[in-house]
Amino acid sequence: MTEAELGNEILARLENVESSLPSIMPRVNEDMIRDNLMSDEFLDFVKINMLPVEKMMTFYQCAIMQVETKFKILNEQFSLSLDRNPIESIRSRVKSYDSIMKKIRRKKIGLSAEEIEDKMNDIAGVRVICSYVDDIYLLAKCLLDQDDVTLVERKDYIKDPKPSGYRSLHLIVKVPIYLQDEKKEVKVEVQLRTIAMDFWASLEHSLHYKRCQANAENCDAEELASELVECAKESARLDAKMQEIRDRIAGI
Ligand code: GTP
Ligand code: MG
Repeated sequence: MTEAELGNEILARLENVESSLPSIMPRVNEDMIRDNLMSDEFLDFVKINMLPVEKMMTFYQCAIMQVETKFKILNEQFSLSLDRNPIESIRSRVKSYDSIMKKIRRKKIGLSAEEIEDKMNDIAGVRVICSYVDDIYLLAKCLLDQDDVTLVERKDYIKDPKPSGYRSLHLIVKVPIYLQDEKKEVKVEVQLRTIAMDFWASLEHSLHYKRCQANAENCDAEELASELVECAKESARLDAKMQEIRDRIAGI
């Protein structure tokens, strides 16, 4: 075989290997994962190390139950004295592992349970939807007046809306949860908003989400964002007007 023939032969074989690589690679990956990551030792390691995390998530779930119950009780009580329910609905969630991990990465938070608990305020989230703005402040005051509720942070995006137009009252509170042999103070993010604010936030959220996915050619996003700022102002006017009409009806 001449040198040129040998060169061609090598090139042909390399091309062969290259073209079959994509079909071999997933199998190699799968074998590697099965043999290394799915060993008994590794599964035991995950199980043992996930225990504190699962315990932590249970604490947050319990804290959500505490805060939800407090709002439900207030709603019942005000339905008697105000003759209407100030709360339209309550939605709660414990942040998903995926979102927790992304936030840890984004905010460069340490990986210990202590640091995660300390730096992340929104692992437990309770969203309270009201019909009227003054009910938001009434409920917030009643919650914060309770002996076992500690205010960590208060952000009033109703008085000072975000540049996006976002309005809501945010409270980070600590509530105690009583376990078999210990009492633990757990943080919960409470977002109080009107139906109009909630409607606006979900629409704006979908724009934000699309914007993150979109490429630079999507020039509509900027225009939509400024239309949403206008919408937020209109919905604030609507909230104020509805409340005023409700007060006039009550005065008749
Ligand atoms: P995060 O790291 O995102 O929690 O920010 P933060 O600690 O500064 O909290 P902030 O009070 O600004 O917002 C917390 C939450 O409020 C978000 O996770 C959203 O649920 C909501 N939020 C805040 N700003 C906006 C907004 O402009 N649009 C929408 N749709 N929601 C918002
Ligand atoms: Mg948040």
